[in-house]
Amino acid sequence: MPLLELSNLRKDFGGLRAVDDVSLAVPEGAIIGLIGPNGSGKSTLINLIAGSQDLTAGRVVFAGEDISGYAPDAVYNSGIARGYQEPSLYFKMTVLDNVLLPVKGQRGEKPWYAPRWNSWQGDEAAHARRAIEALEQVQLLQHYATLAADLSGGQMKLLEIARALMGQPKLLLLDEPTAGVAPKLAYEIFQQIARLRDDYGITFLIVEHRLEILFDFVDYVYVMHLGNLLAQGAPADIAEDAALREVYFGD
Ligand SMILES: Nc1ncnc2c1ncn2[C@@H]1O[C@H](COP(=O)(O)OP(=O)(O)OP(=O)(O)O)[C@@H](O)[C@H]1O
Ligand SMILES: [Mg+2]
Repeated sequence: MPLLELSNLRKDFGGLRAVDDVSLAVPEGAIIGLIGPNGSGKSTLINLIAGSQDLTAGRVVFAGEDISGYAPDAVYNSGIARGYQEPSLYFKMTVLDNVLLPVKGQRGEKPWYAPRWNSWQGDEAAHARRAIEALEQVQLLQHYATLAADLSGGQMKLLEIARALMGQPKLLLLDEPTAGVAPKLAYEIFQQIARLRDDYGITFLIVEHRLEILFDFVDYVYVMHLGNLLAQGAPADIAEDAALREVYFGD
């Protein structure tokens, strides 16, 4: 049974069908690529899985649970975390605070517990240790006190990954993790992703335009075009696919 299974997903924006009858499977422990030209529906598909946009039709099953129609926080609680095409961070807060924010059930925030610091200081220390570990995993720890706004584009993408790790997700959805990033750092971002898969068993579904990097790391690729799935296969086969070359590379 795949970790994530999408069946006949559809999304209409008024008269525009942005996602049209897409079915795909993401096996546990895999790194799966989702590619396609601009406007082909990739980000919309990610939003449908994450619950940040409502499905018009179809079904999302994750770890055996039908999560179709779940709100974003319920999707997150089920074990799916995400990054955004445009980094979505608290830019006026530090790197460390951005990672600490999503921790659930922080007792020190409750008026009743706030003065009883000894009831939650142990939790705080544990959260801080996990945050430090998450920042270490993406090699951002030395920037812990930097404001998110002062990071480079690539570091912002890494910070989103570190923040996502705090939820101990089973599946990470990433939308163009290397957009606007210099080639060397772009390759390093994918090396971090591969390490997270190898060391923690995290499964990845990754939207990416930089195929020369993506194809070095993914196990399998789905290609979207005008809302439809146009092709799928191993990266080497996709690179040779004639129909794909026509829509994607224009030759
Ligand atoms: N909120 C929205 N309202 C209306 N139309 C939308 C909305 N979001 C996306 N679309 C349209 O849906 C189609 C798919 O958009 P989407 O952002 O999913 O494409 P994409 O494959 O992620 O493209 P890119 O590679 O440029 O990021 C496009 O035609 C887009 O204009
Ligand atoms: Mg997009």
